[in-house]
Amino acid sequence: MNDMQFPVYRGHLEYRCLGCGARHGIDALLYTCPACGGVLLLEDTGFEKLKEYSGAAWRQVFDSRAGTRNSALRGIFRFYELMAPVLEQEDIIYLGEGNTPIIEASPALQNNVGARFAFKNDGQNPSASFKDRGMACAFSYVKALARKQQWDSVLTICASTGDTSAAAALYAAYVGKPVTSVVLLPRGRVTPQQLSQPLGSGAMVLEMPGVFDDCMKVVEILASRYRVALLNSKNSWRILGQESYAYEAAQWYGWDLAETAFFVPVGNAGNITAIMSGLLKLYALGIIETLPRIFGVQSAHADPVYRYYAQEPTTRRYEPVAVTASAAQAAMIGNPVSFPRVQFLAERYLELAGADSFQVVRVSEQAIMDSMLEANRHGHIACTQGGECLAGLRVALAAGLMRPGERALLDATAHALKFADFQSMYFTDSFPPEYGIRAKQERVNAPRLVLSPEARETMSREEYINAAAGAVAAALELQERQ
Ligand code: F0G
Repeated sequence: MNDMQFPVYRGHLEYRCLGCGARHGIDALLYTCPACGGVLLLEDTGFEKLKEYSGAAWRQVFDSRAGTRNSALRGIFRFYELMAPVLEQEDIIYLGEGNTPIIEASPALQNNVGARFAFKNDGQNPSASFKDRGMACAFSYVKALARKQQWDSVLTICASTGDTSAAAALYAAYVGKPVTSVVLLPRGRVTPQQLSQPLGSGAMVLEMPGVFDDCMKVVEILASRYRVALLNSKNSWRILGQESYAYEAAQWYGWDLAETAFFVPVGNAGNITAIMSGLLKLYALGIIETLPRIFGVQSAHADPVYRYYAQEPTTRRYEPVAVTASAAQAAMIGNPVSFPRVQFLAERYLELAGADSFQVVRVSEQAIMDSMLEANRHGHIACTQGGECLAGLRVALAAGLMRPGERALLDATAHALKFADFQSMYFTDSFPPEYGIRAKQERVNAPRLVLSPEARETMSREEYINAAAGAVAAALELQERQ
């Protein structure tokens, strides 16, 4: 295959309402169904045509693209035909997203946990979280629309717990005219590192007191009344892009996901929606022969999806919850916008892959922090939500939900550095009481000063360096060379 070739297949995408079943064209950017207000998913009505090729043929197409130098196909669009096969090459934005590594958990860590598992490091995306997958797709579509409709300005807006805003601002800054970016954040509920990202990208950053759910309601009102492009995962183009996580994972494991369980932290529920949707497409085309099992993971401080699935199937009712402070702050959401999508896809998933193929587990705040720190002490770069996944694996193991020999793939959704302040609160045992997290001394680490500031002032430079070398040697109890 010519390395620079672009796929020829074009699909016919439509919004499908999960409420009333209505279908709408993609020439207008929709977030909810104009007929009933329901949540939408994008569907390729030409998907059946893709079945003219065998699963093996598709595997070969995607494998042959893995080394391409065509940047339009280098990231998430390696899986172009499965995702957004209406975009033209000129509209595709590539900032190095996707292709994140799957890192086998260190042998010692696997031994501690008592399971075979790996992390997919989605913190190694350009804005250091998985959100870039969805933004690459959503911004490519926005760019295409702006080009076709000759818009001279597009104001993009999102509510965020910190990572959506970082990604949206980054892609908006790259695209430039006519796109500008505004982000709405719950004041004091995003980390300083996350806050620095949209500021650095030049977005307009608005803050309001409250939690993410409040900000989300505000941007929903804005998107329904004014001409703004909403970039939360309510925007179905985001979901399409995030399906790439599932495609990459399947490809990495040689398209064989038998005896595999995916652990996914659930906040607004866009990520778990996308992963299930992507896996169902792979399965429908015979690209994978077995669906992996899916475990959603939620903190006890933000657990509406867990609560729903914990109820008796015939009588269960969905209720939003009021969240309380969580170290998995990026997923601290009480009323996930994508819940109807999860419901819809989980039903299909359970039908195809069996009664235990989709489950949600709940973890404690203490376990989230302990697990994150333990992972990172073993050479990983998990964020608090990655820690949440590891805590979820432990809950599943303890409850006997894992099968013997089954391997787990944990989504480390962001980079550890974004959550440095949570690590420091742990190390100084200073979590406010509402988190319910206490430091375990064996996990604590702190810098040690080897010489006093006065020593620096009173000695010559040579004396000082020698004294410092002596102090370091004493602290380490080093033996002198013979
Ligand atoms: N992990 C991280 C690092 C996140 O930023 C988020 C969501 C999640 C997990 C949960 O994923 O919402 O798709 O279920 N962050 C959003 C934001 C809400 O605004 O950055 P989800």
